[in-house]
Amino acid sequence: MAEQVVADLREKCETPPALLREVASAMAHEMGAGLEKEGGSRVKMLLSYVDKLPTGGEEGSFYGLDLGGTNFRVLRVQLGGNEKHVVNRESREVSIPPELMSGSSSELFGFIASELAKFVAHEEKCAKISNGKKRELGFTFSFPVKQRSVASGTLVKWTKAFSIDDAVGEDVVAELQTAMEKQGLDMHVAALINDAVGTLAGARYYDKDVVAGVIFGTGTNAAYVEKANTIPKWEGELPNSGDMVINMEWGNFCSSHLPVTEYDQELDEESLNPGEQIYEKLISGMYLGEIVRRVLLKISLDSSLFGNIDHTKLKTHFLLRTPHISAMHHDETPDLKIVAEKLEENLEITGTSLETRKLVVEICDIVARRAARLAAAGLAGILKKLGRDCNAQEQRSVIAIDGGLFEHYTKFRECLESTLGELLGEEASKSVSVKHADDGSGIGAALIAASQSQYRNVE
Ligand code: BG6
Ligand code: GLC
Repeated sequence: MAEQVVADLREKCETPPALLREVASAMAHEMGAGLEKEGGSRVKMLLSYVDKLPTGGEEGSFYGLDLGGTNFRVLRVQLGGNEKHVVNRESREVSIPPELMSGSSSELFGFIASELAKFVAHEEKCAKISNGKKRELGFTFSFPVKQRSVASGTLVKWTKAFSIDDAVGEDVVAELQTAMEKQGLDMHVAALINDAVGTLAGARYYDKDVVAGVIFGTGTNAAYVEKANTIPKWEGELPNSGDMVINMEWGNFCSSHLPVTEYDQELDEESLNPGEQIYEKLISGMYLGEIVRRVLLKISLDSSLFGNIDHTKLKTHFLLRTPHISAMHHDETPDLKIVAEKLEENLEITGTSLETRKLVVEICDIVARRAARLAAAGLAGILKKLGRDCNAQEQRSVIAIDGGLFEHYTKFRECLESTLGELLGEEASKSVSVKHADDGSGIGAALIAASQSQYRNVE
């Protein structure tokens, strides 16, 4: 019985190369449609107004705020200029109280500004750094924003675990400025960026062959550099550089080729944003543990595999988290001791046999492999759009990736890398590489703030 549920799951989650190639083509197609016109695709292809990426010459001290991942972060980066790179970096990480994720806009921004104020106050005690100039800030806001300029934009919708109605449609920089003023903070927001854009910028600072920045964390997204004259929906004057960084918001991608199961459908229907972010719900860290929980619940209700247990925990949404399934999936102890521990600690499932634990590991494997293979198909889609997916290219194409899922879930990362190789083939793979961009978006935000600084041409 339980074995049958797992066999069905395995079959429905299959991702043969032919299916992944369809997904990659669909992604490349949607990218074109999203650039064509506003609302042309579910993949929004948002203009970031970032038209030049860091060169290495950026100099000075800049602040970064990073909201949207597991933790909220405040940082200050000292940029050396002339290829001297980051000379100093200090940061503070805080988790966002869950009630603020669905409260009011002023509460959330008030919290952010108060954390920023604490950070600045601490620094003032340690060193005098202001030199009479206003402090400048790059704000990484990891949600879809329709930008009006590099330092302003309105929130299109919330994603992941956030849902604060009165912030939708509002200018997030104006909200932040108001909250900072209430804290008596006299700072200037020089740039508003998405985390995928920040990852691209941060990685490009060190390597000029980086073509895209991608996040596989709580959510998933990608940003890349597009030729501005190939963006039909672009209305303004063409930027001097000729380039425009696009925040794809690929989490909202959907295609009939995606292998969606009954568990995914139910997860979607009961989510904060039904019908939206379908690709993200199959791939990202917020959801993988939850999919596994749903499969375990079905097995437990339909069979006696876990014995006569109390289902309260197993029925609780999001109680089983991706770090838990990662720990179980990587369990190398002969008797799968870690699997037993995680089931007991999190779901109150005790006394499992080794066979049962092996079945649980297999479920984790099916769900994580499907995610990694679909993620690789997304990357192949971007390379296809850029014409870098076939044959060996003279130029390297580096994809910079950040986010907890990619960083900590080794089997996810390995499967993603091998699947990308499988899709590109031996020749094209030679010029493509994937690399982890640690804290890319924090530094990226500071770098973009530096390039937009109001003092940049003033000696
Ligand atoms: C961080 C970036 O490194 O990765 C964040 O600086 C980003 O901006 C985050 O949101 C994603 O990671 P996670 O796993 O915390 O969602
Ligand atoms: C969600 C957000 C997107 C962000 C991604 C990764 O998909 O909508 O803006 O980049 O998560 O954090």
